Amino acid sequence: MQDQHAWSGRFSEPVAELVKTYTASVGFDYRLAPFDIEGSLAHAAMLNRSGVLSDADLAAIRRGMAEILDDIRAGRFEWSVDLEDVHMNIERRLTDKIGDAGKRLHTGRSRNDQVATDIRLWLRHEIDGIAHWLAELQKSLLDLAEAHADTVMPGFTHLQVAQPVTFGHHLLAYVEMLARDGERLADCRRRVNRLPLGAAALAGTTYPIDRAYTAQLLGFDDVCRNSLDAVSDRDFAIEFTAAASLVMLHLSRLSEELILWMSPRVGFIDIADRFCTGSSIMPQKKNPDVPELVRGKSGRVVGHLMGLITLMKAQPLAYNKDNQEDKEPLFDTVDTLTATLRIYADMMRGITVKPEAMRAAVLQGFATATDLADYLVKKGLPFRDSHEVVALAVRRADQAGVDLADLPLESLREFSALIERDIYAVLTPEGSLAQRDHVGGTAPAQVRAQIARHRERLA
Ligand code: ARG
Repeated sequence: MQDQHAWSGRFSEPVAELVKTYTASVGFDYRLAPFDIEGSLAHAAMLNRSGVLSDADLAAIRRGMAEILDDIRAGRFEWSVDLEDVHMNIERRLTDKIGDAGKRLHTGRSRNDQVATDIRLWLRHEIDGIAHWLAELQKSLLDLAEAHADTVMPGFTHLQVAQPVTFGHHLLAYVEMLARDGERLADCRRRVNRLPLGAAALAGTTYPIDRAYTAQLLGFDDVCRNSLDAVSDRDFAIEFTAAASLVMLHLSRLSEELILWMSPRVGFIDIADRFCTGSSIMPQKKNPDVPELVRGKSGRVVGHLMGLITLMKAQPLAYNKDNQEDKEPLFDTVDTLTATLRIYADMMRGITVKPEAMRAAVLQGFATATDLADYLVKKGLPFRDSHEVVALAVRRADQAGVDLADLPLESLREFSALIERDIYAVLTPEGSLAQRDHVGGTAPAQVRAQIARHRERLA
């Protein structure tokens, strides 16, 4: 009898070469190895405690696994496609090392609950890393926001100058988005952190297992409560990728703004040279490659989300081989997101702000027109009438090629006799900012209060 596979007894011919490479996952799932070993050690400890596995076998398994982990870390472990995946590669090596004890490890377990456990252990670990970098990025945004809590810039709607805001306030909008992303990841982690082991292939097992004990050893908060669901559920992978997509989507928006702000036509900021590249033909060029790539890579993460959703759609219970396709999109999502957050946290510390350019842009767009309208309302004019009065004044200023604040008092009073000399305090960008002094408003004092609140949250 050939001994190629764990199941070779059932088959009358070896698996076709092409099928072997087509079905093998070891080329990518070897990455789960440390978590596979961690899961196996917990399973073995539980079997031993339940009287299914002897003390000697458990000791041998621990010794063998320690050597295997060393070999893997040192790059000495040779992965074999013949053994299909990370699980069977490790189990076979264990048996080569320790004999029958290695063959007893798979008692009361299936690769179906094993792989589901491995991915959850791995993803939990990665979520913790991502949460760290998400916080680092928020801190670097907060530092920049603090330095520019008073810096005036035009706020846009429809990409047209709308009203003055502070650059700090603008950056805090992204901190809010990233804070929600952090909440989503933490919530997703709660559902990742449940133990599938014990479900075995799909129906549970006949051995006297203690799932709560295995869960405790592995740091899971709970056990999956239905064996069929335990081996087939990949909701957690979809949820994670959805949360990751939102982070990338938020960063694609910030990237788009950085690119726009760095364009010489706008000239609000500069990005440190180490995050940019030049052109092989145009000597004058300095291109914002990093934000452009982040914008591009957001597409690939959203693509993985679509891939995973489509992977699970209409799959019957319980485990199907389709599920092996969950790994590459998940791995790539984690790698892309982690690298993006790390580089972004650093890049935001390499931004130079040009406050004069921002202020000049505010003065060009009648950004304080709403402030004039509000001034008239406070003097008793209904808002709709006030809106009309100010529209006429803007038209006059536009024709004269000046800002509202440049019109002399006599000309402003032609539009409304309610206008007095104190209007000029309102028409400056700084006056406009100072008046938006409520929670969520752009007044520098409010911006500083929000920065303090975020710092406390991240401490
Ligand atoms: N490599 C497989 C996967 O990633 C492991 C589980 C295989 N189970 C099975 N019954 N073929 O999903």
